[in-house]
Amino acid sequence: ISLKHHNTFGIDVKARYFVEITGLAQLQKILELKAYPKKFILSGGSNMLLTKDIDALVMHINLKGISIVDENEDDVEIKVMAGENWHELVLWSLDKGYGGLENLSLIPGNTGTAPIQNIGAYGVELKDVFVSCSAMEIETGELVAFGHDACEFGYRDSIFKNEAKGKYIITSVNLKLTKKNHTLHTGYGSIELELREKGIVHPTIRDISNAVIAIRKSKLPDPKELGNSGSFFKNPIVSHKTYTKLIKKYPKLPSYEVEDGEYKIPAGWLIEQCGFKGKRFGDAGVHEKQALVLVNYGNATGAEIWKLAQHIQKEVDEQFKIKIQPEVNIIK
Ligand code: EPU
Repeated sequence: ISLKHHNTFGIDVKARYFVEITGLAQLQKILELKAYPKKFILSGGSNMLLTKDIDALVMHINLKGISIVDENEDDVEIKVMAGENWHELVLWSLDKGYGGLENLSLIPGNTGTAPIQNIGAYGVELKDVFVSCSAMEIETGELVAFGHDACEFGYRDSIFKNEAKGKYIITSVNLKLTKKNHTLHTGYGSIELELREKGIVHPTIRDISNAVIAIRKSKLPDPKELGNSGSFFKNPIVSHKTYTKLIKKYPKLPSYEVEDGEYKIPAGWLIEQCGFKGKRFGDAGVHEKQALVLVNYGNATGAEIWKLAQHIQKEVDEQFKIKIQPEVNIIK
């Protein structure tokens, strides 16, 4: 079957076999088919670039359900099954009046994959609300719990991209949200601006969500209209020394200071400086409003997009001596 509608880049590759996973027992049974066929885990398909047909059993994780596992006057802990769409979860939480997810509005993908890259936007990361997750070990079919520390979260990073890579299928995620006295994160420049333009002085969590949605819609293409995977690259982190050199040469260089005197540089800016913004190479292109986003105008192959990405990496390295790394999982 074609996976075109199962990845947000809209890449038309085929899966040898395909199965939709809707229950834990079913998942366990399929994993018991040890060596053959090879397994390939697919969730929302929002953070991958498929460059060739998948000669494996594609397991589409579609486990559903949201439940409250614990609550008191102040907070609530919810358990969300892996196949729940992330943005629908955010909307659900807002309807209930639960705070914590509002800055993470409109991020494509499903809840089960959110911990893998520790999704983040506008000053909040998944790790800020994360309690634990359950994952099925592929080798044994056993369910294992990962607490917050065990996940080793970092910027767009976790244990699931490192030691635990390819070993587990996340089946559910527990999050802690606030019922009152919400901690509002309005510090990210464009959120403040958006709220001010609307004349909002005391924003609610819904106001923040609406501001984030407006900002994202103005910059990031809707995968339903234009295939993409959000930011294609991670923002590089450079040493203080490199930063000082760069800022001398490029006084307009945007940056954020991170830990240990290092600086995060927006890769979108670097890519734009190299002249790629809005450029199109066949059906592969660089988004006209956000140079960090690569897009598929219709029939690009994954290989064509990957070729463009490598071309960009090379040009950025030549001009700035900075190596930018993909954020998206490249399936080769
Ligand atoms: N910029 C440019 N040109 C561009 C794009 C950006 O000069 O084409 C500059 C902007 O002017 C701004 C800076 O880069 O000064 C930052 O831009 P933006 O606020 O759009 O954020 P970003 O650093 O490009 C990151 C995340 C996004 C997230 C936003 C908001 C990464 C890899 N990306 O992008 O996450 O939504 O911040 O928090 O960290 C994603 O991961 O898929 C994603 C969209």
